[in-house]
Amino acid sequence: MAITEAHTSRISIRPLNPTLGAEVGGVDLANLDDHTWSQIEAAWADHLVLFFRDQDLPPEAHEALGRRIGELHVHPAAPHVEGHPSVMIIHADERSKVVAGNGWHTDVSCDERPPSATILHLPVIPEVGGDTLFLSTEAAYEALSQPMKDFLADKVAVHESAHIYRGRYGSKESDSRDGEFPSSEHPVIRTHPVTGRKSLYVNRSFTTRIRGLAAHESRAILDLLFDHLERRPEFQCRFTWSPGAVAMWDNRSVQHYAVWDYFPNVRSGRRVSVLGERPS
Ligand code: SIN
Repeated sequence: MAITEAHTSRISIRPLNPTLGAEVGGVDLANLDDHTWSQIEAAWADHLVLFFRDQDLPPEAHEALGRRIGELHVHPAAPHVEGHPSVMIIHADERSKVVAGNGWHTDVSCDERPPSATILHLPVIPEVGGDTLFLSTEAAYEALSQPMKDFLADKVAVHESAHIYRGRYGSKESDSRDGEFPSSEHPVIRTHPVTGRKSLYVNRSFTTRIRGLAAHESRAILDLLFDHLERRPEFQCRFTWSPGAVAMWDNRSVQHYAVWDYFPNVRSGRRVSVLGERPS
């Protein structure tokens, strides 16, 4: 990865640290040409999560940006912008009892084909607080010992969602996308289909057990892996939003955590995710 600031004729890329995260300048995400997009894609593969300041991204332009990556994902339970089922509303205010993403996770890993990418645009942010943290699940995988990598190589984990989504958005079971809350099984170690890099694909929010292990063994291994993923600042970056900023992350190689330290203030915007492949 290039860790020095890079300038091309069109865009600038400023890494936040050597592991993940870069701020991209000189880009209007609502009016991208193919050359600029190819530079963004290359930077994204290197840095896993990209940040863009001062963007104007109405729902149509937000969807068009997502479609550059692939078919759009529809969230199984969360509210969306009217007429735009793929544009999820992210909103917190003085009435909020919970907020989206306030715990380490990759988006909707309970789905059979979880989102590959997520693009979050926040026009309204609190004066202070409301940062989002990201961690590299590739760096976490690399830091495991070889015996642990070998042990996990053929393991499959269950990812569930009823415990997260039921009642969360004022929704009943029947309000969810398919009439029920999704649950899926995915390999504990997955390989990125574009870069070929391996990552640790379990997260504290959705992953409930490892197939084939006794319940107490599964619990102990998952707790060990969650601690390993979440406790090392070396695997992480932290983004402080400004109004109109956009974050675009790769759910196949990062987890994120939305910090809810700004109650009762307002933080509001929209999120588009892109349908991914079955993890393998
Ligand atoms: C999410 O998990 O999509 C929410 C992230 C955030 O609000 O920062």
